[in-house]
Amino acid sequence: MAASSDSTFETVEHDVLVIGAGGAGLRAAIEAAGTGVRVGLITKSLLGKAHTVMAEGGMAAAMGNVDDRDSWRVHFADTMRGGQYLNNWRMAELHAKEAPDRVKELEAWGALFDRTPDGRILQRNFGGHRYPRLAHTGDRTGLEMIRTLQDHGVHQGIDVHMEVTVLTLLKDGDRIAGAFAYDRDRGHFKLFKAPAVVMATGGIGRAYKITSNSWEYTGDGQSLAYHAGAALQDMEFVQFHPTGMIWPPSVRGILVTEGVRGEGGILKNSEGKRFMFDNIPENYKSSTADNPEEGWKYTQGDKNSRRPPELLTRDHVARMINIEVKAGRGSPHGGAFLDIAWIKERLPNAEAHIKRKLPSMYHQFMQLANMDITKQPMEIGPTTHYVMGGVRVDGDTQMTTVPGLFACGEVAAGLHGANRLGGNSLSDLIVFGKRAGEFAAKFAKENPKVTIDPKQAAAAEAAAIAPFARAANADGPYQVQEALQDSMQANVGIVRLQDEMETALATIQGLKKKAANVAVLGNREYNPGWHTALDLPNLLTVSEAITRCAIERKESRGGHFRDDYPEKDPAFGSFNLLITKGTDGEMQLTRQPIPEMPAHLKEVVEENK
Ligand code: FUM
Repeated sequence: MAASSDSTFETVEHDVLVIGAGGAGLRAAIEAAGTGVRVGLITKSLLGKAHTVMAEGGMAAAMGNVDDRDSWRVHFADTMRGGQYLNNWRMAELHAKEAPDRVKELEAWGALFDRTPDGRILQRNFGGHRYPRLAHTGDRTGLEMIRTLQDHGVHQGIDVHMEVTVLTLLKDGDRIAGAFAYDRDRGHFKLFKAPAVVMATGGIGRAYKITSNSWEYTGDGQSLAYHAGAALQDMEFVQFHPTGMIWPPSVRGILVTEGVRGEGGILKNSEGKRFMFDNIPENYKSSTADNPEEGWKYTQGDKNSRRPPELLTRDHVARMINIEVKAGRGSPHGGAFLDIAWIKERLPNAEAHIKRKLPSMYHQFMQLANMDITKQPMEIGPTTHYVMGGVRVDGDTQMTTVPGLFACGEVAAGLHGANRLGGNSLSDLIVFGKRAGEFAAKFAKENPKVTIDPKQAAAAEAAAIAPFARAANADGPYQVQEALQDSMQANVGIVRLQDEMETALATIQGLKKKAANVAVLGNREYNPGWHTALDLPNLLTVSEAITRCAIERKESRGGHFRDDYPEKDPAFGSFNLLITKGTDGEMQLTRQPIPEMPAHLKEVVEENK
């Protein structure tokens, strides 16, 4: 196909269009289809390959199968404490109350979970959760979730559009009207007309150099929603998972599940010291073990002991690793050691236990690093993993500030506040995916008519093919992408400083100009350079939002740590930062007060302090 306009693009009509086929998108599509509306599901990748399959350790739901003291109340309190009380408390309440039913529903649809000796769904320990709470399938829980949702979804009459990337959302006045997209294999454009659109595109990890996120995570949903008029919230809060692979360089960033620590894995520095005991935050002192014996007992299900410090929240663990590296006590390739092999001192069948509970970790290290985790400690370091911020939504319906546009899963903000607890994301997907699908279908039924001005599609098409017409000596998309990733990694990473973030902002402004002028060679079929060029505006939009919010928040809280403001400041604890697009096309930053928590939830927080 020539690299010129083909204004004969196909038009496809649905009642509900779901963009993204990970756990949230699939669950939304299933729910909407169940109400009888016509549902279209767009995936940038192939069905079954969504980033959700990379989620390993489990989904958090207070089922109380391993410790019957657990309840939605404790889960709610843990989630709020982890999020440092910037969470949308209504979402945290719904999540804690509804997650157990969503997990049981997955089981009824065919998901195979690990089992307790008496046959119930087994739950494992994870950071920040008071009780063992993560329903899991070894360390392949996300894969099992996607397999189940996909098997169930194919029988619901959902139309799936694979390898399709959305370029822009279409509007009818203030409300949503559809999306304009292209298929990645042929380069054909497609217009999707729909009175309700559910955004479920996941995260932004590819804005950073070191990330556990797969190639699809270029901030598409956050950016598309922002440009369509939706508000972004909490974008300064990016989570750096403490344990990614760091060696060999080609696999740097790949996730090493927190499940390793949940099964008893410990962190050590180059001197063999278990450094996590050095600094236990005040608000976790009563629940965290101060000696190895007690921590080990906890991981073995002893209800009277306290969590090991390796299971403190991710922001804290990642910073502790950073401190060791900076002090010259890191591992040879700039991280720390994560040791699960040591449990053979305690368990007679340790090797078989590790292979059974952590099969993917065993194979991952065997095949990618040529080492046996049942015998040697792993070398790990922090990796960009998750964005707590995203599109602002109504807690009950998941509708954004644009009528007819919904968002769920990682692309949406609110549930996790300043920091997410591990395992709360898989349950987030199914709880709020269901809600988004339900309310999007309702909206489509009540507001079925939309009209699309063809000029919107024509403008998006012209912008998309423009890189082919540029001089071959203009910047290429990969240089721009790499410069952005380097800058975000160096300047807006785990530890932040005012002048470094200002440098990042200046870099982003320069790269925006370059991105608007990148040249692409070849034609529109199977052209990764072109795909990268089209990803750039999204990567730059989310990077700018992250940086602007991080500069504005002059304190340290949750996933946002500033060396120049290392303490939490109560003055910053009563609002979320919002980013909207101003009439001049520039980002506007505002402080949105958090509504007061109702008395019944305050009581839950108090009783769990
Ligand atoms: O470590 C993990 O398995 C990651 C889980 C999560 O981010 O929820």
